[in-house]
Amino acid sequence: APDLSVGNIQAHLSQFQSIASSNGGNRASGTGGYTASLNYIKNKLDAAGYTTTVQNFSSGGRTHSNLIANWPSGPASPTFMIGSHLDSVNAGPGINDNGSGSASLLELALNVASIKPNLNKHLRFAWWGAEELGLLGSKYYVQNGGASGVDTYLNFDMTASPNPGYFVYDDVPAIEKVFKDYYATKNIPTEIETEGDGRSDHSAFKNAGVKVGGVFTGASNRKTTAQASKWGGQANQPFDRCYHSSCDTTSNINATALDINADGMANVLWKLAVTDAPQND
Ligand code: PHE
Ligand code: ZN
Ligand code: ZN
Ligand code: ZN
Repeated sequence: APDLSVGNIQAHLSQFQSIASSNGGNRASGTGGYTASLNYIKNKLDAAGYTTTVQNFSSGGRTHSNLIANWPSGPASPTFMIGSHLDSVNAGPGINDNGSGSASLLELALNVASIKPNLNKHLRFAWWGAEELGLLGSKYYVQNGGASGVDTYLNFDMTASPNPGYFVYDDVPAIEKVFKDYYATKNIPTEIETEGDGRSDHSAFKNAGVKVGGVFTGASNRKTTAQASKWGGQANQPFDRCYHSSCDTTSNINATALDINADGMANVLWKLAVTDAPQND
């Protein structure tokens, strides 16, 4: 698997930050800051050779959108999907929640496009709208047949909390194991993800019978002293003290967690969807 460049991921985060700054301080779904974030990603994916689709839906008198990117080579089925929500709350720019997952996913997709690995699954990436309004984008996608043919969905929401924990979703043991094996190679202990259970975009896929997984670095829960001994950082302080607030800026990112989790995503994608066998296309 490629070692994703954390500098490139941070450059995407800086773009999200300046987009928020020129759009009233946020990138909330249905606003100009969201549309500018979506276009930033879409332009890069289009240039890299992805087939992109913007899926619009309405809620609360606004138009919201999901960005879907299909990689055009490899087998037609089954589909292996990875997604991140791209919207922030109204209160701030949403750089950890969820610029972190969105920027890492973009960098992963761009690496796939340049490496062109031999695949054993169809690859699809998604950036969801209106997660912060009740997981609306991923629900809309699944309600409209999006989970059809999808074997696995991995979710990345908050991967660089400033006082990070390393939490692995425990929904599907086989997927959980692939993540844990990766963190073990980095000598990073993990715990089962419980703070966010059912509170992100993997939920609709799980309910539709898709195998799901992911990683998370913690939100408003506080790091215990036991967790601070294993992971470092500050005990008795929130994993993300700027969760859903105006200080969720580019200063609210732990670059080590950002890098490790992005590389983890790449590793899991390679383990689950890339084959070394030559392909005849
Ligand atoms: N989805 C929640 C939010 O955006 C936080 C969360 C992240 C929940 C990851 C579960 C898993 O605020
Ligand atoms: Zn890296
Ligand atoms: Zn949030
Ligand atoms: Zn989130």
